[in-house]
Amino acid sequence: MEKITKDLLDWYQKYKRDLPWRRTQNPYYIWVSEIMLQQTRVEAVKVYYERFIHRLPTLYDLATISEDELLKLWEGLGYYSRVRNMKSCAQKRIEQGFDNLPNTKEELLALPGIGNYTAGAILSIAFSIPSVAIDGNVYRVLGRYYKIEEDIKKSGTYQIYENKMKKILPQENAGDFTQSFMDLGSLICTPKSPKCEICPLQKDCKARQKNQMEFYPVKEKKKEKRIEERTVYLYRYKDKIAIQKRKDKGLLASMYEFPNTLETVSVVDIENSLLENEIPFYSVLEIGESKHVFSHIIWYMKGYIIDLKEPIENYIWVTLEELNRKYSLPSAFSYYYQILLR
Ligand code: ADE
Ligand code: SF4
Repeated sequence: MEKITKDLLDWYQKYKRDLPWRRTQNPYYIWVSEIMLQQTRVEAVKVYYERFIHRLPTLYDLATISEDELLKLWEGLGYYSRVRNMKSCAQKRIEQGFDNLPNTKEELLALPGIGNYTAGAILSIAFSIPSVAIDGNVYRVLGRYYKIEEDIKKSGTYQIYENKMKKILPQENAGDFTQSFMDLGSLICTPKSPKCEICPLQKDCKARQKNQMEFYPVKEKKKEKRIEERTVYLYRYKDKIAIQKRKDKGLLASMYEFPNTLETVSVVDIENSLLENEIPFYSVLEIGESKHVFSHIIWYMKGYIIDLKEPIENYIWVTLEELNRKYSLPSAFSYYYQILLR
């Protein structure tokens, strides 16, 4: 057995929390607790859990309870689709002639609302089948212990952690192993100020050795998106609309767009500016606001249709059919393009 495995299991034997769902091996009960724990703190779950299994002691009870009463039992936990999924699972199992959950990963994953984590937790905790369940605690403990440099938000990183877990997974006491991460992660290896001085892993923990606990697990910080307020001008002349080509560098490089400016203006502002520049027009019509989220920027746009008596030079004038067929218009402008189609 790997040293980390033994250290975790020994520690768990001694310090595990006494929790209601740890006094059962009933897969249905374990499942209920795991779904509740995905969205709510342990202390708050205790009450909900006891009430739920008291009212619905078997999978059959869950399959047959009315939607109204079910939602009432869940009231306060939020994410109601989760409990609706649970009822669907229960109905499916009962219809198929079973009275509890399956004990293989494939069958569990085929049920509504059960993903990798939940399947792994049920298999290991309820059935003692060696199986990994990777949650935030696992990312934190392993990320620190092995000083794993890959960003946990990046695709592909899950596989790295899963491989590590599979390597240290014991053949027995799989449920204790799974839950040792939850308790260590909640009690000792906490997100802020981990209590390394009382941690069973302190001697071998690479982050601790370098005093770099706070840098792990590696998680790229979400940058605040820059907000831009833009005005979009749909200049119309007869059956044509004005577009322009974007710069060949940067955001939406070389695509075509409706003329727009980095400011918020009113109908009167636009009318005044047209008059000042001696551009004859019929009307200026406000056509609503639209928002587009890019990776680093958010555009809040306000659009106007401006019907002109003459085309303005320097724009490309195209029919909507040409625009659609020949020019790449970013989806940021879809809302306005759709309005023009009406
Ligand atoms: N969080 C998710 N599952 C848990 C469990 N079985 N025990 C404690 N905390 C948890
Ligand atoms: Fe977490 Fe510190 Fe223990 Fe390392 S030594 S696993 S950082 S609590």
